[in-house]
Amino acid sequence: MQQLLIFDSGVGGLSIFQEVIQQSPNVSCYYLSDNAYFPYGELDEQTLITRLTGLLDAFVKSHPVDMIVIACNSASTVALSSLRAHFCIPVVGVVPAIKPASLISQNNIIGLVATPATIERTYTRALIDEFASDKEVLKLGSTLLVKLAENKLTGKEVEQEALAAVFAPWLTLNPQPDTLVLGCTHFPLLKDEIARCFENGVNLVDSGEAIAKRVATLLPPFKSERLTTAVSYQAFYTLQDRQQLLLKSAFLNLGFESFLLYQYA
Ligand code: DGL
Repeated sequence: MQQLLIFDSGVGGLSIFQEVIQQSPNVSCYYLSDNAYFPYGELDEQTLITRLTGLLDAFVKSHPVDMIVIACNSASTVALSSLRAHFCIPVVGVVPAIKPASLISQNNIIGLVATPATIERTYTRALIDEFASDKEVLKLGSTLLVKLAENKLTGKEVEQEALAAVFAPWLTLNPQPDTLVLGCTHFPLLKDEIARCFENGVNLVDSGEAIAKRVATLLPPFKSERLTTAVSYQAFYTLQDRQQLLLKSAFLNLGFESFLLYQYA
């Protein structure tokens, strides 16, 4: 049985988890949420690299993991190459879907919405230069959207007005971007609410499906004798707080057997 580790600072990686289990139903998953250092989109690069390497190294040493999925743009855009050099198992990362967005935009105006960190990254700039140099790419960094997504999963209603205020700089434009890149894994969890802000319609593009396809191609071909081991999903967080208590039922509803504290200094 192959065992994945899906990693994020919070619940955003669940948008990736859902795509992964749809395409690879025979794989078991650990989900690790580093809520002790949330939000990642406001951490400096060195803090993030040190934290990711230490935490993931400890987790992989204490659990049987065959592949790591960094289901976080803020982490992938800064640490993918060092994590790949550190681990001898495959490390798959999530980066903003600039290329597919560029291919579908009709009016050549693309909105990239991500965390403040991802917006500023050299990696992101390079993606834009490579795949959308002939487009106008508007950028918007928001931690509020990340928090709204976290709260939505605790059962709180999303404040549509607060969400619309985040997009206000684009909503007053004429023409508006016809395609948005959801460059943070938390944002697909708010897809309906984001779409509602754009009355004339908008394409919303994220990296979930592409990452799930990549994971599926890296998994060894399915062997029928392995069917005897049941698929299981187990989730962990790094800091016990009230928010995690509130999030527990969301994880259980998605099929996780447990949602427990993973103790790491
Ligand atoms: N879900 C994450 C991302 O894709 C991080 C959000 C945060 O912790 O700021 O960037």
